[in-house]
Amino acid sequence: MNLHFKRLDEQQAAPYELLLLADPNKELVDEYLSRGYCFLAMLENELVGEFVLIHTHPRTLEIVNIAVQEPFQGKGIGKALVLRAIEEARTMNAKTIEIGTGNSGFKQLKLYQRCGFRIVGVDIDFFIRNYDEELYEEGIQIKDMVRLRMEL
Ligand code: COA
Repeated sequence: MNLHFKRLDEQQAAPYELLLLADPNKELVDEYLSRGYCFLAMLENELVGEFVLIHTHPRTLEIVNIAVQEPFQGKGIGKALVLRAIEEARTMNAKTIEIGTGNSGFKQLKLYQRCGFRIVGVDIDFFIRNYDEELYEEGIQIKDMVRLRMEL
């Protein structure tokens, strides 16, 4: 698969369809975009995925948004995005990379752990505190954020 990556530049429109697929809170998405680095994954000339990295602590970056267009899911693009994010974090001299997912994000938990992340904690009620509407996945309400980390 001939996937290539490019940084979203300030003149370019943000890929909201993808960003909101990963995170329905547009306010949070806009905050992350304003202080983070958004990378676009292109297949030929088509945008198929994206991820956003932000600095959270000294030498720590977090993947705060990651998504693949629905018709392209399940083909290894999500894994390629996570591995590229790890590579970018290393290039930026980070020592630690983090990611979080909902308590019912089983697919995501599998993907992130396969890429080398380990579960380090749970941010109880994160999705209750930060989202107006109730969110569900796999028939389970998303209330808590499972936190994962990888030392680089
Ligand atoms: N051919 C077929 N299947 C493949 C493959 C290939 N070449 N390479 C990987 N796969 C399989 C993986 O084994 C995995 O399957 P499994 O979980 O049954 O083992 C599955 O495809 C998913 O891996 P991958 O294809 O790399 O992920 P993806 O492209 O579907 O992206 C997400 C994963 C989470 C980014 C995507 O589902 C998504 O955008 N979801 C909505 C937004 C979201 O939830 N974001 C995360 C917020 S925390």
